[in-house]
Amino acid sequence: MASKVTGRQATLLRVLVLSGTFFLAAGERVKNKIYDEIQGDMACFKRFNGTHEIGCTSKFFGNTGVLHVIEEKADFDWVYEHGPHQPYVLAFTPLFLTEAVLERATDSGKVSGVVVVVPEDFDPETQLLDGFSGETECPDAYLGLYNASSNPDYAGYCRKKPWNPNGTSMLYTSWEFPIFLITNQTSVNNIQNCFEKFNKPVNGMPRDWPLCSLELKSNMYGTTNSEVCMRRASIGPLSTDNFCDPLYDYNIWGTLKPMNMSEEIPEKSVIIVAARMDAATMFDNISPGANSAVSGIITLMSAAAAIFKHKEEIINVSNKNILFILFQGETWGYIGSSRVVWDMEQGQFPYKVKDDVKDQIAQINLTHIDYFIELEQVGQPEDINKLYIHTDPISNANPELKNETDNLLNILDEASNLVNETKFVRVRKDVPLPPSSIQSFLKHVNISGVVITDHEGEFKNPYYESFLDNYRNVKYEADNETSDADLYHKHINNVASVLATAIYKLATNTHKKITADPELTNELLFCYMKNMTCNLVQEYGGEMAKHLEPKPAKLYVSVESGERYRSYVTMYLMAGLLGDEVERNQSDCKIESIYNMNHFYYFSHLHNGTCVQTTVRMTEAMSPAFLIDDYDWKSGEYSTWTESGWKLTKVMIFLRPSVLEEVAVVCGGVVSLVLSVIVVHFMNSRADLLFGLSTPPAAC
Ligand SMILES: *[C@@H]1O[C@H](CO)[C@@H](O)[C@H](O)[C@H]1NC(C)=O
Ligand SMILES: *[C@@H]1O[C@H](CO)[C@@H](O)[C@H](O)[C@H]1NC(C)=O
Ligand SMILES: *[C@@H]1O[C@H](CO)[C@@H](O)[C@H](O)[C@H]1NC(C)=O
Ligand SMILES: *[C@@H]1O[C@H](CO)[C@@H](O)[C@H](O)[C@H]1NC(C)=O
Ligand SMILES: *[C@@H]1O[C@H](CO)[C@@H](O)[C@H](O)[C@H]1NC(C)=O
Ligand SMILES: *[C@@H]1O[C@H](CO)[C@@H](O)[C@H](O)[C@H]1NC(C)=O
Ligand SMILES: *[C@@H]1O[C@H](CO)[C@@H](O)[C@H](O)[C@H]1NC(C)=O
Ligand SMILES: *[C@@H]1O[C@H](CO)[C@@H](O)[C@H](O)[C@H]1NC(C)=O
Ligand SMILES: *[C@@H]1O[C@H](CO)[C@@H](O)[C@H](O)[C@H]1NC(C)=O
Ligand SMILES: *[C@@H]1O[C@H](CO)[C@@H](O)[C@H](O)[C@H]1NC(C)=O
Ligand SMILES: *[C@@H]1O[C@H](CO)[C@@H](O)[C@H](O)[C@H]1NC(C)=O
Ligand SMILES: *[C@@H]1O[C@H](CO)[C@@H](O)[C@H](O)[C@H]1NC(C)=O
Repeated sequence: MASKVTGRQATLLRVLVLSGTFFLAAGERVKNKIYDEIQGDMACFKRFNGTHEIGCTSKFFGNTGVLHVIEEKADFDWVYEHGPHQPYVLAFTPLFLTEAVLERATDSGKVSGVVVVVPEDFDPETQLLDGFSGETECPDAYLGLYNASSNPDYAGYCRKKPWNPNGTSMLYTSWEFPIFLITNQTSVNNIQNCFEKFNKPVNGMPRDWPLCSLELKSNMYGTTNSEVCMRRASIGPLSTDNFCDPLYDYNIWGTLKPMNMSEEIPEKSVIIVAARMDAATMFDNISPGANSAVSGIITLMSAAAAIFKHKEEIINVSNKNILFILFQGETWGYIGSSRVVWDMEQGQFPYKVKDDVKDQIAQINLTHIDYFIELEQVGQPEDINKLYIHTDPISNANPELKNETDNLLNILDEASNLVNETKFVRVRKDVPLPPSSIQSFLKHVNISGVVITDHEGEFKNPYYESFLDNYRNVKYEADNETSDADLYHKHINNVASVLATAIYKLATNTHKKITADPELTNELLFCYMKNMTCNLVQEYGGEMAKHLEPKPAKLYVSVESGERYRSYVTMYLMAGLLGDEVERNQSDCKIESIYNMNHFYYFSHLHNGTCVQTTVRMTEAMSPAFLIDDYDWKSGEYSTWTESGWKLTKVMIFLRPSVLEEVAVVCGGVVSLVLSVIVVHFMNSRADLLFGLSTPPAAC
């Protein structure tokens, strides 16, 4: 007979199951044990370089622990010395996020995870937070210009006088438990309330089960170092998720005038104006980089827009060109800039010569570079009108080069006098360059260049490469993109004006005061610092703008398959600022060829739709280490950073009964299941007798 469940039997089953559940979990406990998901998108994750592994991972099924909220230092002692319910998941505000705290948590052996909660009213300034920067005290020094074998005189400089004294190296440490950042206020309150209700010790005495617990899931696939991890990835396509991937994004650049391959580009005719595009933190999905990146990005964009308004004048009198470029991945050992230098040396910047493309973009190489002007952190000057200019003592030991650099310095001085708002102060000539992209170039070629910053010695930014390097850190106050009350945008606009004025003089050899557009500067700042769904991004960003959230820009470099809407949007913004409007309707306004110097059209939503022809492009920013056959992973020549793959990151909060109770529940469940099966089987076979009904027809 077919083992089909009849209506009668189903009713029987339901009764059994219901009663079983009832006697197992007596009423309200069922509700308590329900898991609740809280914000889990900002996990600390793993990265690798040629020799090391950094960051965090959870166990495969996640790490669980009893929640303990730390309100003051003594609460740590309570957990380590008295807390009986280990393992614990500690929750605290960024005040306690220090190396010492995390190390002690590791050493105690009682901690299975950490959540860093940021209450809405959290203000690092009033809470006397020690400056903390995830970076080391000497960012990027290991891949910079001043290494012990090539430049011993300057190699030790940073160790004696750190650029980043607030550096904790937290970003570069491998932690044994998962760490999450939680900023959603619903989640922050959930954690606080659950702790108060169930876990908070009463007069120092621990509470009894059930206890509020957290489960942190952030299992990383990668292990050991980039070499091991990449080798694994290339052997077996076990799954679609890689063990690890090279850090990857695109450098974004554009020139004042198109570069025509049929016309010789004169030596020393390209003025490079550069800034870095990326920033990083320990956590996924948050990397505001307000001073470390945004201040430079916006100054560069604003200056580029101002210069572009004088394009014809410059082209008419000068054979110089200006290359504006935003480097990606500079945080991780100068990925973007070292790639551009490598491409230039290979004769493939911006692209290799194609056989079948007409009017290709000309290649530029290192001999074409005239001057190099770089904007690093420029947003936190002590005196709102004062910035510093750094030069490299090694290349400038050459008198000819020094002559050129002096010329550049004089021009910058003159420009700042002309704009008369921002003064430039020269840093002593025997001080090496702070961390900067130009170091990638100077490793290979002697060019004259300057790095403009807001600091003379140590960084003014106490939160370099941490999630607190946000608009508050630079005191950008504007609530909307049209507010002109804000002092910060005036400062950035002044720097852009000085820069544009100096570039004009470098290109044309004539003085002319050029003023950047403060409204544009403010709008750009608002977008990147506060809200990437701002009007400007909507207008210029095209389809890509739709994917952005009303949040500060996420500036982490990511991996090839990672999210990079902010890079596309930045390219389109640059295209709009460095482009000529042409008469084309929307369907004809598209990229016909990136290789052809004049066939990049881009449709913006400005004025109900405008077609723009532009020189702006993207080129790959992945470290040359991954392109060189048999690259020596330990050599320290190029960046070898990779990022681990993972499936998901997640945080759950739940009420956990005592271990005894859990065991009892499981045993009870098993017993009841076995009993039900037996009873059902028995009843089923005796149904006729029990219920006095006839067997259903065989056809049923
Ligand atoms: C990898 O990173 C560690 C920690 O920052 C550093 O000490 C080491 O020099 C790096 N190795 C390479 C090959 O870059
Ligand atoms: C950062 O470091 C400097 C130098 O050690 C120190 O004076 C300053 O107070 C630190 N900043 C913060 C916010 O702690
Ligand atoms: C130091 O720099 C030189 C020149 O850039 C390079 O050849 C050498 O490999 C570097 N040494 C180390 C230890 O990084
Ligand atoms: C915070 O989390 C809650 C619940 O998970 C969600 O409804 C809310 O939209 C989140 N708030 C923000 C600002 O993301
Ligand atoms: C590139 O230069 C060549 C030689 O001067 C000229 O014939 C050609 O028209 C130029 N192409 C464009 C697109 O300007
Ligand atoms: C540039 O030169 C062209 C032709 O030589 C001339 O028509 C144009 O007015 C000039 N533009 C400026 C801004 O000087
Ligand atoms: C740079 O390009 C020029 C042509 O524009 C070429 O003559 C020169 O050999 C190149 N230099 C290098 C180092 O590739
Ligand atoms: C330095 O530049 C000036 C003009 O800018 C020139 O007259 C002088 O000869 C140069 N000196 C050297 C050593 O190149
Ligand atoms: C620059 O500004 C100061 C004060 O704002 C003023 O006294 C001075 O005359 C100005 N200089 C020039 C060259 O405009
Ligand atoms: C923008 O902000 C300024 C100052 O905060 C305020 O006066 C103005 O009304 C705001 N504009 C809009 C459109 O909200
Ligand atoms: C972001 O900007 C858009 C456009 O100005 C606005 O509609 C939205 O409310 C803003 N969102 C936030 C969270 O500021
Ligand atoms: C945009 O289009 C709307 C309606 O199609 C029209 O009313 C408006 O004048 C246009 N604006 C511009 C700047 O062309």
